[in-house]
Amino acid sequence: MIIAHVPSRTGAAHCGRLAASQYDRGVSVRQAVGPASERREALKGVLAEARACQRCSELAATRKTVVFGNGNADAELMFVGEAPGASEDEQGLPFVGRAGRLLDQLLGEIGMKREEVFVCNTLKCRPPGNRDPLPVEIENCRDYLLRQVELIEPSVICTLGNFSTKLLRGDPTGITRLHGRPEVITLGRRAVRLYPIYHPAAALYTPRMLETLREDVSRLPGLLALGPPPQPPREAFEESHPADPDGASERTAEPEAEPRPEPDQLDLF
Ligand code: URA
Repeated sequence: MIIAHVPSRTGAAHCGRLAASQYDRGVSVRQAVGPASERREALKGVLAEARACQRCSELAATRKTVVFGNGNADAELMFVGEAPGASEDEQGLPFVGRAGRLLDQLLGEIGMKREEVFVCNTLKCRPPGNRDPLPVEIENCRDYLLRQVELIEPSVICTLGNFSTKLLRGDPTGITRLHGRPEVITLGRRAVRLYPIYHPAAALYTPRMLETLREDVSRLPGLLALGPPPQPPREAFEESHPADPDGASERTAEPEAEPRPEPDQLDLF
């Protein structure tokens, strides 16, 4: 992929992004994989791969749909949950059940809509019986998430609960210690603001946790207003990937062909 400079988030190339007054903090140039339209097309390619994925034989055999994620493919804010549940597997969309309705409500309380953000999960397929994702499944699916991050280029990634927080931080520290504490991390060639918060499903039945979640969510606008963190120089990434300027070595083998059709998600981002 070509590395190009694109205008700030307030520029025309980012017309799908949020209001200029909210995010123009003088960040005039950022590294990007390409213009928004190119990145959206590339994201569709990743979606097609994910739909055909057979890396986790049990999940591939039991899923109804691959729940890739949806929302604004050019979003400043990306949420990463755990794994699809029954409703998500049925509809092919993330966070459409009770936890999703709570997420929508909390977003509404900070003046944001679901269409403005991108929502996805650590796993793209439902673990049978809603069991916890297995380490091997998280590893198998990691590449899809990293490519989503690379192409969407969010400034802020809000991890919901333990699984996505541990995966993206590469560290076993739990959400109870980390929630509400933003930090800058580097994923692939991009630096992002990581913001772990409790998973809405966990807060559904625990009023104190819900209050904490609400407080943490209330700090999101301030975090978004900071804009993207300073990006590492392009050379730093290329030096650490000398034979692999596209980052392709982080990707695993092409999945096999998809045996059955899935609901069309291409117009969802
Ligand atoms: N919980 C998740 O982590 N993801 C969903 O999509 C739904 C519930």
